[in-house]
Amino acid sequence: MNGLQILGTGRALPAHVVTNHDLAQRVDTNDEWIVSRTGIRERRFSQKETLTELAVTSARLAMERAGVTSQDIGLCITATVSPDYITPSQACLVHQQLQLPEDCPAFDLSAGCTGFLYAMETAAAMLPRMNRPYALLIGGELLSRIVDMDDRSTCILFGDGAGAAVVKTSEHANWYSLLGTRGNQEALWAPGPGNSPAYLHMNGQEVFQFALETVPAMARTLLEKAGLSKDDVDWYVPHQANHRIVASVAKRLKVPLEKFYENIERYGNTSAGTIPIALDEMAEQGLFQPGQWVMCLGFGAGLTWGGALFQWQEKKEKES
Ligand code: UT7
Repeated sequence: MNGLQILGTGRALPAHVVTNHDLAQRVDTNDEWIVSRTGIRERRFSQKETLTELAVTSARLAMERAGVTSQDIGLCITATVSPDYITPSQACLVHQQLQLPEDCPAFDLSAGCTGFLYAMETAAAMLPRMNRPYALLIGGELLSRIVDMDDRSTCILFGDGAGAAVVKTSEHANWYSLLGTRGNQEALWAPGPGNSPAYLHMNGQEVFQFALETVPAMARTLLEKAGLSKDDVDWYVPHQANHRIVASVAKRLKVPLEKFYENIERYGNTSAGTIPIALDEMAEQGLFQPGQWVMCLGFGAGLTWGGALFQWQEKKEKES
């Protein structure tokens, strides 16, 4: 079965930083509560950047680092729940800006915070049937658009940002993945256009419990599929929803917390953006070495979950 190889990553965050103190000016909250309950110290809220701008900036970086051009891209998927337009899709706007080829299909994928994992799986299945060798995958949100800034239980959690990856399929890639869905409209939802109330709503404790139930089980299933032990994995890249969720998952798996990459402190929860943003930061810091095992773990609205366990591969020169 085909696996994916990640050839290049990129990220883009809005310039405007909003601290916990800033939010405490508006709602009844404080830095101590937010840090101790979530691990978040600040997040970015767009003041002028569109999601298209963030997506295109992160995509250009990913393409540059992968050493590919627009003409090499055969599939473009944007995972998001907060696109600039209902139609055309966010991916079509990226397609236009990057002048991707006409035989490169572009579409959005809505799977909440698990969107990037769903996009990777979709690319693994579709790319071998496309005309060009690489897929451009973007996960990104402007959640500040749909968060009620007067609701202290949600406005402190979410942020804006986008990450991207250029991938190709490879028969030699060691790649194990799984996706899951438990249809549930009440736990985490935002109404469609024309419906009200217009904001994102969440039963935080229900989502918290759901994460603790599904994420460690998903990690164990992936290890079993790959015939690996938890200690064989060099890096765990979890969805950044709450530091307490990450710490509990690490504890349940009996894995040192240091193996879990975290940046929630700086960005909050950027939903479909968290995993590609984390991958890009990690790649930039030189944390991935060829042969290392990496496990990405996502969960979110839907309810959905998804994981990918793969071996980091050395990037070869672009194939002709
Ligand atoms: O990407 C997936 C999406 N979401 C998630 O993964 C979220 C998962 N859930 C969570 O992260 C947590 O449930 C929250 C961070 C949302 C909430 O933390 P919690 O420890 O579950 O708090 P809680 O909802 O049980 O609320 C405890 C208290 C309540 O007050 P009372 O009723 O005990 O008096 C809340 O009203 O904390 C209050 N509270 C706040 N206090 C200060 C809720 N939000 C705040 C706030 N500042 N921002």
